[in-house]
Amino acid sequence: MATWHKAVLAAALGLAVVSVGGLAFAQADAIKARKDGFQVFRTSAGAIKKVVDDNSAPAGAVAPAEAIASQAARQLQHFPAGSDKGDTKAKPEIWANMAQFEGYMKDLEAKATAVAVAGKAGDAAALKTAFGAMGAACGTCHKAFRMD
Ligand code: HEC
Repeated sequence: MATWHKAVLAAALGLAVVSVGGLAFAQADAIKARKDGFQVFRTSAGAIKKVVDDNSAPAGAVAPAEAIASQAARQLQHFPAGSDKGDTKAKPEIWANMAQFEGYMKDLEAKATAVAVAGKAGDAAALKTAFGAMGAACGTCHKAFRMD
């Protein structure tokens, strides 16, 4: 092999190594970003639960419910292919069943929006029902797609 061929090959291999490393970084970033998103879900769901448990003004549930809905709309981008590897409890089944996973996330978005609607209406009974349905949407996806 001509020397310049070897140099080109070495350069190409070097680039390949760099880009694989870059990919691993991107996946770690995605895992971190989605966990941050799920923490928004957790904190906001806790805030809504407090409104329901304390029987306080339903309007207090609106902001956290809207936070969940808007986070749900952004959450899917943090599940790029290959990000089942690393410090994650996401099951590989997600990537084999992405349409279903997306459907569950869209369902959560709708259920969180319904919580916000009940809060805006000032309807405590509707809020409680909507909050229960939202919690079920969290559980359905975890059961299917999150490791225990
Ligand atoms: C469409 C699927 C889906 C829905 C809906 C969903 N989750 Fe999750 N959740 C996951 C997956 C997958 C993980 C694991 C993420 C990881 O480890 O990379 C997770 C992880 C979490 C975590 C742990 C995050 C961390 O820091 O490790 C919390 C807390 C959480 N979810 C709360 C919720 C709450 C609360 C809701 C409902 C408001 C919810 N999730 C709805 C799929 C979902």
